[in-house]
Amino acid sequence: MPVFSEDCLKGQGILITGGLGAIGRVIVSRFLEVSASVAVNDVLPEDQAARVMQEAGWDKARCSYLRADITKPAEALSLVNDGRRWLGRLDVALCHAGMAHSCPILDYSAEDWDKILELNLKGAFLVAQAAARAMVAQGVKGKIIFTSSWVQDVPWPEITPYNVSKSGMKMLMRGMARELAAKGIRVNSLAPGIVAVGMAKRQLDTEPDYRRRAEKAIPLGYMQPPESVADAAIFLCSPASDYMTGATILVDGGCSLYPMD
Ligand SMILES: NC(=O)c1ccc[n+]([C@@H]2O[C@H](COP(=O)([O-])OP(=O)(O)OC[C@H]3O[C@@H](n4cnc5c(N)ncnc54)[C@H](O)[C@@H]3O)[C@@H](O)[C@H]2O)c1
Repeated sequence: MPVFSEDCLKGQGILITGGLGAIGRVIVSRFLEVSASVAVNDVLPEDQAARVMQEAGWDKARCSYLRADITKPAEALSLVNDGRRWLGRLDVALCHAGMAHSCPILDYSAEDWDKILELNLKGAFLVAQAAARAMVAQGVKGKIIFTSSWVQDVPWPEITPYNVSKSGMKMLMRGMARELAAKGIRVNSLAPGIVAVGMAKRQLDTEPDYRRRAEKAIPLGYMQPPESVADAAIFLCSPASDYMTGATILVDGGCSLYPMD
């Protein structure tokens, strides 16, 4: 049985970054199922993106691909402007693109540190700031959502720069929420746990140490369905969350409840 009504995001214009990734695809599909219009950003070339979108069966009338590297200020700005133009009105910006790289902290290189922080934190900032400016210019009391992670508050080993980026994202979210509340713009985060697709699945499949830890880390006892991330995103886009700002919704199967070892 559907959790949300078919038209619960009808008329809403949503921009999502990293929307062709493993979790992003599920979120976009669910947004379309509940009648939103979605501007989907990623870095994939146009032909690859077109294939993904066709395979997913996304309705082209309510979904458009906007290629941009969000770590580049000019591209992040054009992305938001193009997204706003295509959508007509930018109601929600979901800053979702992110990456992880596993390596013990003693061996972590400065280059890898920069890559993680540049995408996960600076990219999110650039898009969120441009989106907030667009909302203010259009007089839209919109919403900005960050995809964070349960590790924003937990030092999960061997991805410390990733943890730092999500921790920084938490303060970015809270700072923006504080400053933009007077303009009616709500800013919140969504923090998943160990999801059964995407970066966690890649680590699970290739890193025995990660698998050993992950198997003990989820109190609910099974990996997170990506649909649960999408459902929390729908909630945050919907009027049901209108009185929330500066909050993190943890949807993590309890991962954050106790130490993993
Ligand atoms: N998978 C998990 O267990 C998990 C858990 C908690 C949080 N998250 C978060 O969810 C988000 C998505 O994770 P995922 O597992 O689906 O990863 P993924 O690697 O499948 O997707 C990330 C997407 O971001 C895109 N991207 C990379 N660089 C970009 C750039 N410069 N500009 C625009 N797009 C870019 C990639 O092409 C990719 O499609 C990330 O923010 C991640 O931190 C994931």
